[in-house]
Parts: sequence; C-alpha cells; structure tokens
Amino acid sequence: MKRIFAISGSLRSGSSNHAILHFLGKMMPADTRYFIYENLARIPPFDPGNDHELPPDTVADLRSFIKGADGIIICTPEYAFGVPGQLKNALDWTVSSGSFSGKPTALITASTGGQNAHEALIKILGAIDANLIKDATLLIPYIRSKMESGEVKDPGTKESLLSLLDAFLTAIK
Ligand SMILES: Cc1cc2nc3c(=O)[nH]c(=O)nc-3n(C[C@H](O)[C@H](O)[C@H](O)COP(=O)(O)O)c2cc1C
Repeated sequence: MKRIFAISGSLRSGSSNHAILHFLGKMMPADTRYFIYENLARIPPFDPGNDHELPPDTVADLRSFIKGADGIIICTPEYAFGVPGQLKNALDWTVSSGSFSGKPTALITASTGGQNAHEALIKILGAIDANLIKDATLLIPYIRSKMESGEVKDPGTKESLLSLLDAFLTAIK
C-alpha cells in the first residue's frame, strides 16, 4: 500500500488546485492511500527560534505526514509572481527537519500564468532535497478556463494530469 500526501497551495474555497488534487484522487489505483492536507492555514509563521525537534503541533504533524508518505504531490497557484506565502511558509518549516529529503515529489502549478512560482518551487524543492520526478512536473496556465462547475473539464489538461500521475506512480513503485 503506497501512501501519497497531497498539498494544495491555495486556501480558497472552490480552489482549482484543490479540484485538481481531487481529480487525481479519483484516478489513484486501489493500492494507494491518498491524503489531501487540509491544515495548511493552521501552520504558524516560520520562526527559526522554534525550529527544533519540538515545533508547534501542526508543524510536527506536517513533518510526520511528509516523512511517512511514499510520495508527495504539490499543486499550487502563483500569487504576485511568487509562491503563495502560506505554502512557502510550510516548506520553510521542513528545511531543517529534512522531511522532504529524497522524497519522490510531483509539482503542479495551476494558475493564470504560474511560470514564476513553478520555477521558484523547482528551486525550493531542490534546496530541501526533494526527489522531483522528471516527468511529474506540470505547469497549467489559464487554469480557470479549464474548469467547469468546480471540476477539471479540459480534455488536454486531464490527459496531462494522467500522464503526470503515471510518471509519479512509476517512480514510487
Ligand atoms: C492576490 C492574487 C494574486 C495573484 N497573482 C497571480 C500571479 O502573479 N500570477 C498568476 O498566474 N496568477 C495570479 N493570480 C490568479 C490565480 O492564479 C488564480 O486566482 C487561480 O485560480 C488561483 O488558484 P485557485 O483556483 O486554486 O485558488 C492571483 C490571484 C490572487 C488572488
């Protein structure tokens, strides 16, 4: 049984990034346990003074979810040409703990444009030693136009997501 932990960089109710993670959840094979993180909003601001083996509870939980997963999927929009603050904040808490070290990771940036956040996240994931899977990175521009009634509707986008999922699952086998 493979455990997959998914994080959306958007806290918005009705988020397209959440919808993408739900779409992937429906496509997961039966031998996977797929968990979408819902506590991102509760991660406190990163404080190096509290960055030790007994961090705030939500941070300790986040670190153990990441450590216990066979693979991670990050799916995020871009805000103001950068990585959404709360996602970056959460990732900052994982630098010293090494939670991502060697962890097979897929990255989806679904936004209006998204290139800056996508490139920044590739660097950040490199800095925290994540094993970013070569064929499991995807930039989806104009995401809102690819959604309908809160679901991913664009056939090309669905196809790209399925091929990302395939590469990701192969990597964590
Ligand atoms: C404050 C704010 C800033 C944004 N800045 C950008 C940006 O720099 N680049 C971009 O591609 N989209 C930007 N967007 C648009 C988001 O990509 C779009 O709202 C997207 O649907 C958000 O993802 P979600 O549907 O998962 O919440 C911004 C949206 C907000 C609310």
